[in-house]
Amino acid sequence: MIEVQNLTKTYGGARGIDDISFNVEKGEIIGFLGPNGAGKTTTMRILTCFMPATSGSASIAGFDVFEDSLNVRKRLGYLPETVPLYTDMQVPVYLRYVAGLKGIPWRQINSRVGEVMEKVGLTHMAHKFIAELSKGYRQRVGLAQALINDPQVLVLDEPTVGLDPKQIIEIRSLIKGLQEERTIILSSHILPEVSMVCQRVIIIDEGRIKAMDTPENLMAQIHSTCRVRTRISGPKDSVLEGLRAIDGITKADSVDNTSNSTNGFDVEFIDGFDGSHLIARLAAEKRWDLHELTLAKMSLEDIFIKIVTDEQVKAEDGK
Ligand SMILES: Nc1ncnc2c1ncn2[C@@H]1O[C@H](COP(=O)(O)OP(=O)(O)OP(=O)(O)O)[C@@H](O)[C@H]1O
Ligand SMILES: [Mg+2]
Repeated sequence: MIEVQNLTKTYGGARGIDDISFNVEKGEIIGFLGPNGAGKTTTMRILTCFMPATSGSASIAGFDVFEDSLNVRKRLGYLPETVPLYTDMQVPVYLRYVAGLKGIPWRQINSRVGEVMEKVGLTHMAHKFIAELSKGYRQRVGLAQALINDPQVLVLDEPTVGLDPKQIIEIRSLIKGLQEERTIILSSHILPEVSMVCQRVIIIDEGRIKAMDTPENLMAQIHSTCRVRTRISGPKDSVLEGLRAIDGITKADSVDNTSNSTNGFDVEFIDGFDGSHLIARLAAEKRWDLHELTLAKMSLEDIFIKIVTDEQVKAEDGK
């Protein structure tokens, strides 16, 4: 449904995105995950015909976004980072206006506006001016305008940014409910969000794709790294030295003390190896008390940070 090949965008000399390629199948929800400045909005703007790419190609439902933008836009709903709302309009007036712009036949406009307001939970706000709405409700208006032409493809740029936890949950389930036959791309820096809503995640940083997989596979990929949190009462420096001398330990760092008498340490082993017993043995040999030895699971957040920092380390090593 969405095909992106070798897409590059440079702003003057600066890199926005660099050689990005991916496909999205019909009916899929994919998450674009990346830190500030990663290139999420840039990619979305190109896909939604708001901006041309410097090179590469992209198509939606078989239509090229550069050469056939009219056909692309007909099939597309876009929630930009900041929605250009007319705050002096009442909600349905604004939505009728957008429906007109999107070429919906005037006979259908009223019923269509009613349907989308119902869908995004705005019906009871019909009498309000947009200026009077809270941020969460404005975001719903943004979603409503993206849905007004019943698009096959939805592009949502950080749909839950700035919302309170309750609204986030509501908007998330709203997005899941929108899927039906639709293909959705959404961007976020909130990692649990993409794992909850999306079937596939594209991790992007500094304009490049760093990883692309299901949330489960990303977890599995990183699970080969075994991490252990331990607390040992012993002289911090000696414990660290002892831990670092253990075969199979790739990394040992002390963590902030939670208690005065024990020191906390985070330890990582080489791929697939759980050497917790070696830590216990070290403590016993040295007559240090062992207070904690916990296998830490990596969250999607850890995975994201690991993928991004591993790339940085590789890049620095290559210099
Ligand atoms: N109009 C512009 N002119 C110059 N540089 C730009 C422009 N828009 C984006 N950039 C640059 O392109 C890169 C990617 O920006 P982009 O807005 O796509 O990131 P993003 O992933 O959406 O970040 P955020 O999470 O902050 O929204 C950044 O380095 C940014 O500074
Ligand atoms: Mg952005």
